[in-house]
Amino acid sequence: QMEQTFIAIKPDGVQRGLISEIISRFERKGFKLVAIKVVVPSKEHAQKHYHDLKERPFFNGLCDFLSSGPVVAMVWEGEGVIKYGRKLIGATDPQKSEPGTIRGDLAVAIGGNVIHGSDGPETAKDEINLWFKPEELVSYTSNA
Ligand code: CMP
Repeated sequence: QMEQTFIAIKPDGVQRGLISEIISRFERKGFKLVAIKVVVPSKEHAQKHYHDLKERPFFNGLCDFLSSGPVVAMVWEGEGVIKYGRKLIGATDPQKSEPGTIRGDLAVAIGGNVIHGSDGPETAKDEINLWFKPEELVSYTSNA
């Protein structure tokens, strides 16, 4: 069964012109893009997206940040894409992410870590449902 995961380029990544750089890393690995859109999420949407973190001191700032500008919301599909997508992204804190990862190569601060990826099968399902309607996802065969 092919997995799907939710990946978002956050407002800092969009502002810094990293959209194509980030997409190409997933694309070259062989994952398949099945949904994409540019949205400025509302604060309420950001709060839903990060509901697991609502007790954390940085929750409010984090939601303000996510809703501060355009986000590139995507669904990527492929074998092992949830776990391997996290590997491409690197550790949450860019000071701890390895060179070669997106955050390791492109970010320095945890408050500006350019990208989000679902951390497991359940959150992937929830996040895809939060950001996309079923008809926004396409199904196709790729030779990658
Ligand atoms: P993300 O992968 O989107 O998941 C939760 C986000 O919370 C994380 O990336 C960071 O952007 C943010 N985050 C986690 N820890 C902190 C922190 N200590 N201070 C500010 N933001 C944080």
